Amino acid sequence: MADVRPLAESDLSEAQRIVRRAFGTFLGAPDLDNFWTDLDYVYGRFGAEHIASFAADRDGELAGVNFATNWGSIGFFGPICVRPDLWNSGIAQPLVEAACRQFDRWGTKHAGLCTFPHSTKHVWLYQKFGFYPRYLTMLMAAPVSAKGAGSLPPDARYSALSSDARRQAEEASRAMAEEVFEGLDLRGEIRTATARNLGDTLLVWDSSGRLAAFAVCHWGPASEAGEGCLYIKFAAVRPGPKAADHFAALLDAAGALARSVGMVNVLAGVNTSREEAYRQMLARAFRSRIHLIIMHRPNEPGYCRPGVFVLDDWR
Ligand SMILES: CC(C)(COP(=O)(O)OP(=O)(O)OC[C@H]1O[C@@H](n2cnc3c(N)ncnc32)[C@H](O)[C@@H]1OP(=O)(O)O)[C@@H](O)C(=O)NCCC(=O)NCCS
Repeated sequence: MADVRPLAESDLSEAQRIVRRAFGTFLGAPDLDNFWTDLDYVYGRFGAEHIASFAADRDGELAGVNFATNWGSIGFFGPICVRPDLWNSGIAQPLVEAACRQFDRWGTKHAGLCTFPHSTKHVWLYQKFGFYPRYLTMLMAAPVSAKGAGSLPPDARYSALSSDARRQAEEASRAMAEEVFEGLDLRGEIRTATARNLGDTLLVWDSSGRLAAFAVCHWGPASEAGEGCLYIKFAAVRPGPKAADHFAALLDAAGALARSVGMVNVLAGVNTSREEAYRQMLARAFRSRIHLIIMHRPNEPGYCRPGVFVLDDWR
């Protein structure tokens, strides 16, 4: 077993090294020193307003890390990583427990994670804590065409708004998220992406000036996206008869944003239970790079159901 405590600023560079080594080893990367050096899951998350970060020590050294994310009624954890030389010695389990205790403190109603569906170890580990495997999430990418139509309107980027308008956009996102799933709240994610220069939030307004869709986007090597990539960390569309059209408009806007910031791909996760969203991505030439499985506690759909236009992957 291991002692678990909050991650500290002084841990960050070793935490980064453990994340890269752990995933690189698991995924069979040939060159561990250069694996995932173009993206970050540690510095951007540590200390963010909606994230709790945990460290596990063994013999006085950092042995593993985990991050829990608070999206209101939804909470998920990861990336959880243990130093490869210490695998299978019970270090991940107290890190999962720490995230679950954090969900209790936050009052999370619906908790989850995403993991590798081909690994019996991963599914076993999380199942021990009551998480149940559900549908696949496809991480899909599409190239950005060099000459797409038009540029973004000025109110399409959260970062371009005045502080009052930002607050209104945050409240509009909260009201919209509530329609998608009771208690869902992305305001921390929206503020963090801009405050930490990880990316920006796209806002799609309908003809009556209501928020129709939004997408928290990361891009570039200091973010979770990676070199050349615009990654949609979370996107949602207001439910209703125009949802499919607004989803199309959101994907067009993501392409325009990617082009304007010099990215060549758009990457987004879509759970296959959100059938219409997944089919629309396929029809727009998004192709899966990898698929993951989501695990839920309790074993209920949450917002993973047909008719819901949400993009995320909980990684
Ligand atoms: C996944 C990871 C965090 C697990 O860490 P760990 O410290 O090795 O895990 P623990 O030792 O606490 O628990 C592993 C459990 O899986 C079990 N296990 C090991 N191999 C298994 C297998 N092939 N099939 C089923 N269960 C297996 C272990 O016996 C143990 O369960 P038990 O205590 O009931 O016996 C670690 O392997 C890692 O960092 N992997 C690379 C990064 C990664 O994949 N992160 C998770 C992404 S979702």
